[in-house]
Amino acid sequence: MAELALPTVSGLSGARCFVTGAAGFIGSSLVRVLVKSGAEVVAFDNLATGHAANLAGVRAETGKDARFVHGDVRDREKLARVLPGADFVFHLACLGVRHSIHSPFENLDVNARGTLAVLAEARAAKVKRVVHTSSSEVYGTAKHVPMTEEHATDPHTVYGASKLDGECCARAFWRCYQTPTVVVRPFNAYGPRSHSEGDSGEVIPRFLVRTLVGKRPVVFGDGSQTRDFTHVYDTAAALARAATTPNIEGETFNVGAGAELTIAELARIVADAVGRPDLIAEHIEPRPGDVLRLFADSSKAARVLGHSITVSMTDGIADLAARLRALGDDAIRALDAGIVVRSWT
Ligand SMILES: NC(=O)c1ccc[n+]([C@@H]2O[C@H](COP(=O)([O-])OP(=O)(O)OC[C@H]3O[C@@H](n4cnc5c(N)ncnc54)[C@H](O)[C@@H]3O)[C@@H](O)[C@H]2O)c1
Repeated sequence: MAELALPTVSGLSGARCFVTGAAGFIGSSLVRVLVKSGAEVVAFDNLATGHAANLAGVRAETGKDARFVHGDVRDREKLARVLPGADFVFHLACLGVRHSIHSPFENLDVNARGTLAVLAEARAAKVKRVVHTSSSEVYGTAKHVPMTEEHATDPHTVYGASKLDGECCARAFWRCYQTPTVVVRPFNAYGPRSHSEGDSGEVIPRFLVRTLVGKRPVVFGDGSQTRDFTHVYDTAAALARAATTPNIEGETFNVGAGAELTIAELARIVADAVGRPDLIAEHIEPRPGDVLRLFADSSKAARVLGHSITVSMTDGIADLAARLRALGDDAIRALDAGIVVRSWT
C-alpha cells in the first residue's frame, strides 16, 4: 500500500500558527499539515502525555521544522511571552477521558481553566482566529442519530464536562469580547502517533498492538458501543480549515466520518487487518461512564469547511499497522507492555 499523503490546506502560506498540545496525537499531525501548507508553527506542549519524538519527523515529512516551546497552558505568563504574533491559535492541549475518571480535579483544571487561559491570552494578542478543539464526548450517548451540532450536550464524564466548559468559554469570548473563535468537535480519531499506552491509550492502536503480538483485543463491556472513526489526517485538515474559512466565528462543527461501527466489529476488522482473524475479542467489565453510541452528522463541516473523508478505514488501519510493524518486534512488545488494560482506578 502506498504511504498516505499528508493533506495541505490553502490560505496558510506565511500564516503564524500557535498550536497547544502540539506534541500529542492529533496536534503532531496538525503541525505537519500546517507546516506543509506553508505556515510558521510554534508547537506548545508540556509533554504531560505527548512526546517530543512526535515532532521529530516534521522536517523530513514537510521540508521545514516547527519551533517547539515547552509550557503549560495554565501558565498565563508563559503564554503571554510566546503566543503574541500568532495569526491563528489551535488549542488542543488536554488530559484525556480515562485520566478524568481517576483524576477529575486535575482534568477539569487543565481542560477548562487551561482553555480559559489560552482564550484570554489570544484575546490580549488580538489573534485572527482561535480554533478550539472540543470533542464528541460533550454529547454523551446519542439520543438520536446521526448527531448534528444541535444534539443535546449531556457529558458522561468529567472529561466531557471539561470539554463542554472549554467550548462554552470559546463561544462566550466571541459573544462577549469579539475574540474570533470557532469550536470543532472531532469524533474519535486514529492514525499515526495515536496512543496505545497508559490511560491515553486509544482503541485502534491498542487493538493493533495486542493483535500484532498475538494477543486477543480487550473490549470493555459487550462491545455493542459504537463510535465514528476519522483518520487523523482528515481531522487535522478540518481543524486547519476552521482557521482559514471566513465568517464562521462563534460556530461549532462536528468532524466525523459519518460511519457507525461497534467496538466488537472493530476488534474483528483489526484482527483481520493483521492477518489474525483467530484472535477473538476478550470482554472485561464496562468502563465507567462509557458513552454507548456516537455517530456524527458532519454535513455542516462538509458544506462550510469542505471537510471530507480522504482516508478509508481499510487504508487507515493498514497504514497504522504497517507503521507499527516497521518499529520491529521488540518495539511492539514494549508497546504491548505499556498497555494498561484497565486504567481507571
Ligand atoms: N483523539 C481523539 O480521538 C479525540 C477525539 C475528540 C477530541 N479530541 C481532542 O483533540 C485534542 C487532542 O487530543 P489527542 O488525542 O491528540 O490527545 P493527546 O493526549 O495525544 O494530546 C494532548 C496534548 O496536550 C498536552 N498537554 C496536556 N496537558 C497540558 C498542559 N497543561 N499544558 C500544555 N500541554 C498539555 C499533552 O502533553 C499532549 O501532547 C484534545 O483537545 C482532545 O480533547 C481528541
